[in-house]
Amino acid sequence: MIGIPLHSLIADQQIMTHARLIWCDTAGNRSDHPAAHTRNRITTKKRAEGTVSHSAGGVAASSIWLLDRGERNREPGVIVTRLPIGASEIDFVIPAARVRHWLAGTGRPGAPKTSSMILLEIRLKDFRAHRSTRFSFGPGINLICGQNGIGKTNILEAAHYLCLTKSFLTSTDAYALRDGASFFEVEGDFTGARRERVRVRAAYTASGGKRMFLNGSPIDRTASLIGQLPVVVFSPEDHKLTADGPDGRRRFMNIVISQSSSVYLADLMRYRRTLKQRNELLLTAKKSGQPASTDQLASWTEELISHGTSLYKARIEFSEVYANLLREEHHRLGPSVEEPGLTYTPLPGVSSGAERGRVENAFREALQKSSRRERERGITMVGPHRDDLVFLLDGKEIRRYGSQGQHRTFGMALKLAQYRYLFDATDEPPLMLLDDVFDNLDRNRISIFLDILRGDDMGQSIITAARKDIFHGIIDFSNTRDRLIEITEAVMAETFAAKAKD
Ligand SMILES: Nc1ncnc2c1ncn2[C@@H]1O[C@H](COP(=O)(O)OP(=O)(O)O)[C@@H](O)[C@H]1O
Ligand SMILES: [Mg+2]
Repeated sequence: MIGIPLHSLIADQQIMTHARLIWCDTAGNRSDHPAAHTRNRITTKKRAEGTVSHSAGGVAASSIWLLDRGERNREPGVIVTRLPIGASEIDFVIPAARVRHWLAGTGRPGAPKTSSMILLEIRLKDFRAHRSTRFSFGPGINLICGQNGIGKTNILEAAHYLCLTKSFLTSTDAYALRDGASFFEVEGDFTGARRERVRVRAAYTASGGKRMFLNGSPIDRTASLIGQLPVVVFSPEDHKLTADGPDGRRRFMNIVISQSSSVYLADLMRYRRTLKQRNELLLTAKKSGQPASTDQLASWTEELISHGTSLYKARIEFSEVYANLLREEHHRLGPSVEEPGLTYTPLPGVSSGAERGRVENAFREALQKSSRRERERGITMVGPHRDDLVFLLDGKEIRRYGSQGQHRTFGMALKLAQYRYLFDATDEPPLMLLDDVFDNLDRNRISIFLDILRGDDMGQSIITAARKDIFHGIIDFSNTRDRLIEITEAVMAETFAAKAKD
């Protein structure tokens, strides 16, 4: 354990005037059970608890003890509850990355920009509309402009392939194959302070499927790439997150948590495999009219409960942290009277901090309750695959009551919160891909959003827009960080030549 002065933490959080500390245990669980701590820690907890102030009266607690947080980072982390004056209590997680910077004596939260992974160049071959193109990027804001249908979104989609091995628009790789071509290839060069040069390649053939390569070597388990190059994409498709049913929000949770935890991704894959097997058993039984073998079903059920519980626990923890980030980002987007929120209540009687055994029992009970229905339908009716994460504005479901403008602001806040969540978890500012999100925004909003993108702790972003004039006076492309990339027919010449030949 390492002690660091509380006032240095507080001083960096200007709006934090009072703080109360809550401890994490070594697995990253918030601990509400002092008995679980050693005597020494209980003493520290008692001293730190209650309201402390860094203003004139000085600091009541002189140090925060940092405990290991989770297996992923093996870095110090701590959960602090902060109480801005006049506001209700807001949990606040100080990310491991920031704490490390404090400890390293930089005195400022947020990683310096040089530590982020930067996509230097991307090359597309027979990918969507691109016959053969290459684009290079600056470390700051990159604005891709060009007429509609020229191939701007295609470039973001290609970048997404490199980071997450797939598109954000389709789950079918074949759709990305240029009409008439037999393979596509996307290759990107990344660089960063920690890893000097990383070359990632996605290669797809109609007959052989997709393969990913890292620095020239094929990657056996493509899942191992997830989280290495954290990415956040914000596109018009995201409207569905706040407007449509729960599927998109489950996918969203999975994408965010998987990028920050390989353990979660592995659990998710195991859960899906088990679910598939269990469903097959139920469906076969239903079709044959014979009940499924009790032993077999029980064994799949226990496995489902085990993997499902891991997902539930991770999602509960995620939703708590995320709710606070969402609130902060929503406020950052402008003074709004509405309070955003989210609820995740997957199982009756299971709330935050619930023990694993308790979650398991609740899941088991829910499965038992639905057993007649699942026999009738031949499918597993309850579980994390049926979850919903509900987005709220002033306590009301935004999906049902939100105005267009409220959806838009909420969507932006969701993505900025995702950015911060991933940054905190992976210790690296993610690559931000913004597809066509500015065309419908007023100037004021554009400039607030771009100011955020230019903030000290932001990494690289790639933005597409049909019109560049909306950025006039807001982005100045004469510096070396930001770049304007115009896609014209000349840039796409090979595409047009290929089209003419067909
Ligand atoms: N598999 C494909 N093969 C060839 N062209 C494609 C394919 N998929 C999409 N396109 C073309 O790509 C273009 C769309 O590119 P897009 O990046 O969405 O444009 P925008 O610049 O408007 O973002 C369209 O002209 C579309 O016909
Ligand atoms: Mg587009």
